[in-house]
Amino acid sequence: MSLKSRIQNYSNKENNPILFKNVLVEPSTDRPTPPSNSPLTFDILTSKELEYKERIHHKLMEILDLSLIVKMADADAKKQISEIARRIIDEESIPVIARTRQLIVNEVVNDILGLGPLEHLLYEPTIADIMVNGYNMVFIERFGKIEKTPITFKDDAHLLKVIDRIVTQVGRRIDESSPLVDARLKDGSRVNAIIPPLAIDGPSLSIRRFTQDKMQLQDLANIGALSQAMADVFANMVKVRLNILISGGTGSGKTTMLNALSNHIPNNERVVTIEDSAELQLRMDNLVRLETRPPNIEGKGEVTQRDLVKNSLRMRPDRIVIGEVRGQEAFDMLQAMNTGHDGSLTTIHANTTRDALSRVENMVTMSGFDLPVKTIRSQITSAINVVLQLERMEDGKRRVVSVSEINSMEGDVITMSEIFRFERRGVDENGHIIGRYISTGIVPRFHERMKQRGINIGLDLYLDQTTGSL
Ligand SMILES: Nc1ncnc2c1ncn2[C@@H]1O[C@H](COP(=O)(O)OP(=O)(O)OP(=O)(O)O)[C@@H](O)[C@H]1O
Ligand SMILES: [Mg+2]
Repeated sequence: MSLKSRIQNYSNKENNPILFKNVLVEPSTDRPTPPSNSPLTFDILTSKELEYKERIHHKLMEILDLSLIVKMADADAKKQISEIARRIIDEESIPVIARTRQLIVNEVVNDILGLGPLEHLLYEPTIADIMVNGYNMVFIERFGKIEKTPITFKDDAHLLKVIDRIVTQVGRRIDESSPLVDARLKDGSRVNAIIPPLAIDGPSLSIRRFTQDKMQLQDLANIGALSQAMADVFANMVKVRLNILISGGTGSGKTTMLNALSNHIPNNERVVTIEDSAELQLRMDNLVRLETRPPNIEGKGEVTQRDLVKNSLRMRPDRIVIGEVRGQEAFDMLQAMNTGHDGSLTTIHANTTRDALSRVENMVTMSGFDLPVKTIRSQITSAINVVLQLERMEDGKRRVVSVSEINSMEGDVITMSEIFRFERRGVDENGHIIGRYISTGIVPRFHERMKQRGINIGLDLYLDQTTGSL
């Protein structure tokens, strides 16, 4: 749909017309980037000033020739709207100082052309997540910590309009009959919007910002997410083609770890990635990226992860990287791992390594395969070599808290050995967690596999207790 027709659609729907700009996709360059660790300050209008803004906005809508604005380039449209807004402020003798005047003009422009109050946040590179729980509750996550911002929308209708604008921009729709949308913006950010009646206290919006440069294994070791020794072992685990399951809770750094590990896949191998919304940034040359498709408005055309895993097997991959295993694809993934696509990697949402395995088992059971539990477990045992457990701790840091190798079955039970673990010792006066990464003293079976492939890791690494402390 063209920009113009979308605008016209909106003009029909609402008495307040909306213009679309790809504000999320084309960050403007005229915004200064503050130094990374500085606290954010927001220039927010007072309630009186907000009233002025509303008045100006209203008046502007009466004057503005939308048909002309539509034809303009973004910068010209912005200029034109700013000029008219300034003129209205003068004509109406609105009593504001120069700085407030500029702020009001900016907000009016943001409301008409952009994403309203969210514009305060969208170009700030240190913000990792934006969470809007209703019109007057906007939270952000920076440096691993969640903070509430003073930013508010006028009311739920205003917030809804902004949500509508975001989802329409990516060709989706949100309304009472389809009140939730999961989408990826063109800049790579992941968006979830859910509105009443499903969201009880008003529209809710969650944006996981796309990070330009994902952390690599060495970066993660440098910030203490794992020890240097573990990072070296991890890189070699990928090289010798172990199948690795990365487990953790929401926002525990699973995708970041998956990305970091995948970048240790040798460049001469062919990799197919399968994701719900493409987040991975891999560097190899022989790479095919696949993304699922939700059903369209008529409920048709859905392409699931399972469809993609099956298809990927026909693409002669050396390895398959699945963003997150969540459902029926678990079965096909195990099959793939067991039939020549070793070295495959994926993540799973689970709180412990043991939990991760039961979740895989449940996914296979739920897929409707009538397999005895023991058969599923032995599939899991022979498919997955290592489970990494990640945790997001209260100091905002993410750590690899446990690394376990899957051994074999004893009766009906899968046996595992923990190779590394994070041992938590306390909290310092600044709230940072103190602890150390230790080797448990067990030499993993993959040690031999590495040796056979010419990778010599000293046994001391597994036997020495501390591999790094924080
Ligand atoms: N070790 C780390 N230290 C600090 N921040 C991290 C670390 N790992 C990841 N992050 C940041 O934490 C956020 C969540 O990371 P990521 O997307 O990898 O988590 P996830 O477990 O995949 O989340 P989800 O459950 O939503 O898929 C991102 O902003 C990422 O940049
Ligand atoms: Mg993830």
